[in-house]
Amino acid sequence: MKPPAIAIDGPAASGKSTVAKLVAKELGYTFINTGAMYRAIAWYLAQQGVTPAQREKIAEMLPIMPLDFGKEGTVSTVLCAGKRLESELTEPVVNDRVSLVAAIPEVRAFLLHKQRKYNESEAVVMEGRDIGTVVFPDTPFKYFVTASEEVRAARRAAQGLTDSISERDKNDRERACSPLTRAADARVIDTSDMSIEQVVAEIVNDIKAKTQTLA
Ligand code: CDP
Repeated sequence: MKPPAIAIDGPAASGKSTVAKLVAKELGYTFINTGAMYRAIAWYLAQQGVTPAQREKIAEMLPIMPLDFGKEGTVSTVLCAGKRLESELTEPVVNDRVSLVAAIPEVRAFLLHKQRKYNESEAVVMEGRDIGTVVFPDTPFKYFVTASEEVRAARRAAQGLTDSISERDKNDRERACSPLTRAADARVIDTSDMSIEQVVAEIVNDIKAKTQTLA
């Protein structure tokens, strides 16, 4: 039987990364940050002087990029030529371009395969924009984590990051290929007035209840 996959989707700065990491820790599952995968590609292309408009060139470059999507312990990692990418992933050029790069169908197809592969041999908590709709449409464990635009802007500012999240959300919602949208069967959690612990507890309790029902 395939190991479980927990899908956590939502708009930018909704708190889903923090929540997904803690849910994974509590369940002992591997945490996969798919945003980091799109960010790594956006970063690498910017390094190479390739703009998101150069779709054909990007499609050709995908299989030969020196990027590795792996994991360290129970957390996904992204390496470029053997070096782990971290601060690079939130550089302004990446924030500006990532949603344009993520709208390219070839990029999504390339990463979809790698994202599903993580779940072949282990249980995962995967966060992103299309996990419940496209990556794992059959999982019974889908959560759509959101918060008011005001709260999300304040959370991002508190991280000290310059990031126009409303523009990114608009791009993510309006793209033709795998847009950001709530799966019809996802449980929506508005975190505007909730603590992180409350959100994690709501998700973990729901997973446990569903697991018992399904057993
Ligand atoms: O941390 P934050 O929520 O701001 O963003 P992220 O999860 O790191 O994702 C960065 C960008 O990658 C998003 O704005 C999307 O354009 C893209 N993305 C996507 O298209 N599909 C995913 N499954 C994950 C991220």
